[in-house]
Amino acid sequence: MAGDIDRAGVAKAYGRWAPIYDMVFGKVFDEGRRSTIAEADRIGGRVLDVGIGTGLSLLDYARTTKICGVDISEPMLRRAHERVRKHNLTNVETLAVMDAKHLAFPDNHFDAVVAQYVITAVPDPEATLDDFIRVLKPGGELILVNHIGAESGPRKLFELAFAPLARRLGWRPEFPWARLVNWAKGHGGVSLAERRPMAPMGHFSLIRYVKG
Ligand SMILES: C[S@@+](CC[C@H](N)C(=O)[O-])C[C@H]1O[C@@H](n2cnc3c(N)ncnc32)[C@H](O)[C@@H]1O
Repeated sequence: MAGDIDRAGVAKAYGRWAPIYDMVFGKVFDEGRRSTIAEADRIGGRVLDVGIGTGLSLLDYARTTKICGVDISEPMLRRAHERVRKHNLTNVETLAVMDAKHLAFPDNHFDAVVAQYVITAVPDPEATLDDFIRVLKPGGELILVNHIGAESGPRKLFELAFAPLARRLGWRPEFPWARLVNWAKGHGGVSLAERRPMAPMGHFSLIRYVKG
C-alpha cells in the first residue's frame, strides 16, 4: 500500500495549511491531543513528538517532560519555533525538519513516542511505525491518535468517496484499523495495549503500543 500518498505533496499541502492550521484544527483535535500528552507525561523522561506541526501540543506537556519535535513541513515547524520562544519552553530540546520514516535518532533513545494525526498521512505507515519503535527504549510506549476508517455503514461509504480528494490534502479517511493490528503482530517486538475512542463522537482513536 506504500506510494498512494506522496510525501512531497503532503509537505506542500501542510506548507499551505500552516498559516490557518491552528484556527481550523485547534479545537477539533483537542481532546485527542491532550489525552496523548497525558499518557506521555505519565511516562515522562524524553518524548519524541513526530509530526508536531505548529506545536499546538507543546504548551500541554509537563515542563518536566523533555520534548523533541520533528515534522516534514518547515512552515509548520516555524510556528512551533515561535511558540517555544514566546512561552520560553525550556523543556523543548529539539525541533527539526525530518521524515517520520527516517528518524535521525539512535536506537532505544526515547521513553515515549507520540504521533498525533500523522500515521495515516505518511506514504508507508508500517515502515514508519517500525522506525518509531526503533528509537523507543524497551518498555517505552508509542502513543498515537488518529482518525480510523469506519468498518461499515454510511460513514464507510462517505470515507471511500472522499478518499481521492483527501489524498491531495494528505489524509487517508478510510484507513483500516486492521493495518495497525496486523503491523503489531508482524513486528513481533511490540504489543497493542489500548484503543480508546476520542471526540468528536468516537471518530478518532487513541492507540497505545508497548515495546518489548
Ligand atoms: C494533521 S497535522 C498534525 C499536527 C500536530 N500533531 C497536531 O496535533 O496539531 C499532521 C502533521 O504531520 C506532518 N507530517 C506529514 N507527513 C510527515 C512525514 N512523512 N514526516 C514527518 N511529518 C509529517 C505534517 O507536516 C503535519 O504537520
